[in-house]
Amino acid sequence: MPGETDRDERDHGGGGVKTLAILSRKGGTGKTTVSLHLAVAAWRAGLGVLLADCDRQGSAGEWRRERRTTGPVVISAKSAALFATQQAADRAGRDLMIIDTSPTASEELADAVRCADFCLIVLRPSFLDVRAVAETAELVARFGKSGAFVINQAPPRRSNKEMACVGDTVRQLSAMGIPVMPIGLRSRIAYQQSIGEGQTVLESSPSSAAAKEIGGLWNAVQARLWPAPVLELSDEAAEA
Ligand SMILES: Nc1ncnc2c1ncn2[C@@H]1O[C@H](COP(=O)(O)OP(=O)(O)OP(=O)(O)O)[C@@H](O)[C@H]1O
Ligand SMILES: [Mg+2]
Repeated sequence: MPGETDRDERDHGGGGVKTLAILSRKGGTGKTTVSLHLAVAAWRAGLGVLLADCDRQGSAGEWRRERRTTGPVVISAKSAALFATQQAADRAGRDLMIIDTSPTASEELADAVRCADFCLIVLRPSFLDVRAVAETAELVARFGKSGAFVINQAPPRRSNKEMACVGDTVRQLSAMGIPVMPIGLRSRIAYQQSIGEGQTVLESSPSSAAAKEIGGLWNAVQARLWPAPVLELSDEAAEA
């Protein structure tokens, strides 16, 4: 619940709304699953969160209607109006706007990237997903935005060893000039179940491995959105 968990030490107040765009030209990679989980993670940390659902399928809105408790605000948004939505979120004193995008038109993705402080490109560890995200990575780079890939639906380890597809994916992504998030999400039924109940794994199974990986991903995203200030050393300290 907001206020029950400690707010992060870093100052989120006064700096205006930060915008996180969740992207991928490929369908079904997990954009909405990641958007909803990060929105709830941020909301539970006490942030004012707006989830702008730019997908005409309206999946995030479906989740919000299914939800029986309070939570992040979800609105349906047109990508062309995202800048105005962002301004309104800022005026309303929100801390974070998350944009869940559709897998289709690249013009719409460009609108989301233009507004973003940080872009998360979601993909599964497969050859076809890697090929499909190259264009999205180029878009992020073209706008000079900061971004990272996040691997979703990774298969479980076998005999404590990562399946080859995960390593292959990381290797192929490393040639694209955008880093891979240090924490990815495994394929887990808990994600599907919790979303179907209008919840997230943070609420339906807070002690699970799924909740732990979402917590880790949120921490990593948070650090990209609100980087720790660079220490300014006095001359004396620098010479010491
Ligand atoms: N980590 C995961 N483990 C298991 N199932 C997952 C995971 N992530 C997503 N899914 C399932 O994969 C399907 C697609 O996920 P989701 O709708 O989040 O993808 P999407 O990228 O938003 O799709 P679209 O391109 O249609 O908007 C859903 O059935 C979802 O429950
Ligand atoms: Mg979606």
